[in-house]
Amino acid sequence: MTLLVREMLPSEAHVVSTYFHNATPEFLETMGVDPTRMPPALIWQERIGQQYALPPERRAAVVALWLMDDQPIGFSSCDKIVYGESATMHLHVLHPDRRQTGIGTECVRRSAAIYFDMLKLKSLFCEPNAFNIGPNRTLQKAGFKYVKTHMTVPGPLNFHQAVTRWVLER
Ligand SMILES: CC(C)(COP(=O)(O)OP(=O)(O)OC[C@H]1O[C@@H](n2cnc3c(N)ncnc32)[C@H](O)[C@@H]1OP(=O)(O)O)[C@@H](O)C(=O)NCCC(=O)NCCS
Repeated sequence: MTLLVREMLPSEAHVVSTYFHNATPEFLETMGVDPTRMPPALIWQERIGQQYALPPERRAAVVALWLMDDQPIGFSSCDKIVYGESATMHLHVLHPDRRQTGIGTECVRRSAAIYFDMLKLKSLFCEPNAFNIGPNRTLQKAGFKYVKTHMTVPGPLNFHQAVTRWVLER
C-alpha cells in the first residue's frame, strides 16, 4: 500500500465539500463545526481552485490531499497564513474505519512538511476542539507541542468552543 501526501488539485476539491456536507450533525459537533456556516459545495470548490492558482506568498489557504494507492483517504488544510511566519492546519481521515490505524499521524507529518516548505513557516499551529480526542492525540504523536487550552471561535466554520492549541516549530 502506497501512501502519498501532495497538494490537492482544483479538480479534487469536491473531496472537501462532500466530506463536510455529508457529515452528520453529531460528527460536525465533535469538530466544533456549525453547519450553517459551511459554504455551498460549488463555492467551496471554487475557493480552493482560486487559492491553488495563487503564488505561495499570496495564499490564504493550502489544501493537502492524502492518498492510499491513488485513492483519496483524507486531507489537511492550512489557513491563517502569515507567509514566512505561521499558519494553522486541520486534519481529516475521510472514512471512520480507516481512523486509528496510524494514517493520521503520518499524513499530518507529511502535510506539515509541505506547509513549512511552501509557506516558509517558522511555526505551524493546530487548534482542535478540546474534547475531540482523535486530533489531540494525533498532533502530539506527530510531534506538536501543547501550548494552551482556551475558549475561542477557531475558524470561519466554527462556533465558540474550548480548543487546544498545539504548535510545531522549525
Ligand atoms: C483526527 C484524525 C485525522 C486522526 O487520524 P487517525 O488516522 O485516526 O490517527 P492515528 O491512527 O495516527 O492515531 C494517532 C493517535 O491518536 C489516537 N486516536 C485517534 N483517534 C482517537 C479516538 N477517537 N479516540 C482515542 N484515541 C484516538 C490513536 O489511538 C493514536 O494513539 P496511540 O498510537 O498512542 O494509540 C482522524 O481521527 C479523523 O479524521 N477524525 C475525525 C475528524 C476530526 O476530528 N478532525 C479534527 C478536526 S480539528
